[in-house]
Amino acid sequence: MKAIILAAGQGKRMHSDLQKVMHPMLGKPIIQYVVEAALDAGAEDITVVVGRGGDDIKNGLARFKNLNFAVQDPPLGTGHAAQAGIGRIKDSDDVLILYGDMPLVTVEFLTELKNFYRAGSSEAVVSAVYRPDARDFGRVYDKNGDFIEIVEFKDMKPDSPPTDWVNPGIYLFKGEALKTGLSRMTNNNSQLEYYLTDVPKLLKDDGRVVKVFHTREDISAFTGINTHAQLAEATAHMRGRVNELHMAAGVRMLDPASAFIDSDTKIAPGAVLYPGCILEGKCEIESGAVIGPNTHMKDTVVGANARVRQSVTDNAKIGEGTEVGPFAYLRPGTVIGKNCRVGNFVEVKNSNLGDGTKMAHLAYIGDADVGSGVNYGCGAITVNYDGAKKHRTTINDGAFVGSNVNLIAPVEIGLGAFVAAGSTITDCVQADALGIARQRQTNKPGWRKRK
Ligand code: UD1
Ligand code: CA
Repeated sequence: MKAIILAAGQGKRMHSDLQKVMHPMLGKPIIQYVVEAALDAGAEDITVVVGRGGDDIKNGLARFKNLNFAVQDPPLGTGHAAQAGIGRIKDSDDVLILYGDMPLVTVEFLTELKNFYRAGSSEAVVSAVYRPDARDFGRVYDKNGDFIEIVEFKDMKPDSPPTDWVNPGIYLFKGEALKTGLSRMTNNNSQLEYYLTDVPKLLKDDGRVVKVFHTREDISAFTGINTHAQLAEATAHMRGRVNELHMAAGVRMLDPASAFIDSDTKIAPGAVLYPGCILEGKCEIESGAVIGPNTHMKDTVVGANARVRQSVTDNAKIGEGTEVGPFAYLRPGTVIGKNCRVGNFVEVKNSNLGDGTKMAHLAYIGDADVGSGVNYGCGAITVNYDGAKKHRTTINDGAFVGSNVNLIAPVEIGLGAFVAAGSTITDCVQADALGIARQRQTNKPGWRKRK
């Protein structure tokens, strides 16, 4: 089976500079869901029809090696788009046609449609979804499963017979029939467009067998995204699906309605999500990890049995059994070992922390390599930026950095060294040494009374 995915429309109703099908939905562009569904349903050759500015779509789908692209410019309708994408189709091929703006389409549905098509001897199958009172969908007419016609919503006449069956925009054609039908289209309709929906009718009029595949599946699976409101609605639906899959696999969610989990996030069974978590991009949560409440993670790996509370993390790795938060901020390049503690109001950036290292509160560590078993006191900071360049700090295993210490990078704290509280450290402290850099205290007896 080959597939043609139409994505050259201008998406005017989005009022956006971004191509309609490139709008993100749970971390992936709308069209990627359609491509993945087609691939999973067995399409071994896919042509995506793009319009002006289609390079964004090409780049967005670059990870799929076996995709082909065709250009339709200007966009003169869905039939015209299909014609632009016909280049790789042979007469004997089976061709699935999908619209790039329907990300909720399921593999199950495409597989059922394919089986229906293969079991019969028709040259085209049009799908029809049950939806009384549908607004902007085209209406599908048939007699006992034999296709009659599709009438676009905008072309309906006051005396058009009522029907509860609408066109989701998913078709299967025999290659030769598709080519013949497309070559006979006209644009004699209210929008002066070449409608793909006319092709099955032209074939039927040619005496060929065209069937309708009816489904009563939830119409939301076939929503075409034309507006931001529809994008929000479809996203909510997809979010529900993603959350259900995780829960079915053994993830415990205290409040799935408040869990926003991107499609590519992996969560192991036995992980727990408290309310109010957003997991963006490619997060990976291991078993026994407990996340939240109110935690925003992006591209973060959380090890088994780690605990992350009320925190923000981006491109970070949190080791097994480590505790983060409440109110920690892990910025890109943070790699934290096992059984560490990164407590409240601690910010870590582009730094490695060895196992068992603790920074319990109010600290900043940036561009640093910190060993294991280090204690990093309250208010300690790395001074990693001199106004022009970033410099690294090294803190070796077992070192103790007291409270309110400034480590002026580049600088190194030796193995087991001790830095006294309140020190501004500009020179390396050797292993096992005490580094102290602060003024001695002087007390002036009776000073208050003399004033
Ligand atoms: C289309 C169907 C309608 C169906 C509905 C389902 C036609 C004529 N109408 O209407 O029967 O109920 O989808 O959602 O097919 N596209 C191009 N080039 C073009 C025009 C469109 O590639 O010249 C692409 C768009 O990028 C989009 C898809 O085709 O991904 C559908 O186009 P759209 O304008 O959204 O069609 P609808 O009006 O929704
Ligand atoms: Ca549409």
